Amino acid sequence: MPSIPQIKLPSGRTIPQYGLGTWGMGESARNRTAEVTALKLGFDLGVTLVDTAEMYGSGGAEEITGEAMAGRRDELYVVSKVLPENATRRGTIAACERSLKRMRTDRIELYLLHWRGSPPLDETLDALLSLQRDGKIIDWGVSNFDTDDMEELADLDGGDDCASNQVLYNLTRRGIEYDLLPWCNQRSIPVMAYSPIEQGRMLGHKTLATIAARHNATPAQVALAWLLAQKGVVSIPKATNHDHLRENLKSLDLKLTTDDFATLDQGFPPPKRKQPLGML
Ligand SMILES: NC(=O)c1ccc[n+]([C@@H]2O[C@H](COP(=O)([O-])OP(=O)(O)OC[C@H]3O[C@@H](n4cnc5c(N)ncnc54)[C@H](OP(=O)(O)O)[C@@H]3O)[C@@H](O)[C@H]2O)c1
Repeated sequence: MPSIPQIKLPSGRTIPQYGLGTWGMGESARNRTAEVTALKLGFDLGVTLVDTAEMYGSGGAEEITGEAMAGRRDELYVVSKVLPENATRRGTIAACERSLKRMRTDRIELYLLHWRGSPPLDETLDALLSLQRDGKIIDWGVSNFDTDDMEELADLDGGDDCASNQVLYNLTRRGIEYDLLPWCNQRSIPVMAYSPIEQGRMLGHKTLATIAARHNATPAQVALAWLLAQKGVVSIPKATNHDHLRENLKSLDLKLTTDDFATLDQGFPPPKRKQPLGML
């Protein structure tokens, strides 16, 4: 079983560098058993981080997460998210309580604002800090925040304790390398890379096939190994299919060479100027 490195958060606590996504889970009763089984398999294979949100399956993904975690909660690191429409002072607290109930747990290790909405940021922040004081969440962070949003947050009282920013990042979406990733790196704020294989759409790219052939690996493993090599980046591929799950985990054992990185830079050029933050 590959061991999963940990990244230090600004709080001094740590976050695993690899986890399981859950977007698309909890949407249909027919898939429920398969989804719970997939998460359990991931945990059995040594993955401890699970990323979910109140939005996914309108709470269904959190229920599946709760079911899969039964009997092993203390080994696990749970990330969930509040929807912007709920992110008022009182709404954030109520949303968190609902998430805790759905996941049958008393705490969330990392609780994120899913994206910026109309509630003022300082209101959401107040609620997150209050949830943290009460032990309902251990750390808090944001998602889909660009550099200017991060700067605005850091200027608020307590805002510089933000533990993570979860954004779209993979070889085909390298825009954050221009400014947001260095900004977060400088402040030791891990970036969580979502859609790390672009929901499968990038896997036919010929550069990935070239590198995969060098290592007797697969395109998904190369894409994930590349993310694992980026400083301060957590990646959270989602896989319900057991073969996908096992295949992806093997990326932890794949060490890319300097030549591989150069070839990947040719196939997926890094940004030369500021790009708007992508969102899925
Ligand atoms: N904060 C945000 O706004 C935000 C937005 C999007 C996603 N997220 C989080 O990030 C997680 C990951 O992103 P994502 O789900 O969008 O996309 P992803 O992890 O890039 O891709 C997931 C898709 O790829 C398939 N897949 C997985 N491994 C594969 C492999 N080795 N070969 C071929 N296909 C493979 C999966 O199929 P199977 O399931 O059938 O195995 C699934 O359809 C989400 O689940 C969610 O937790 C957050």
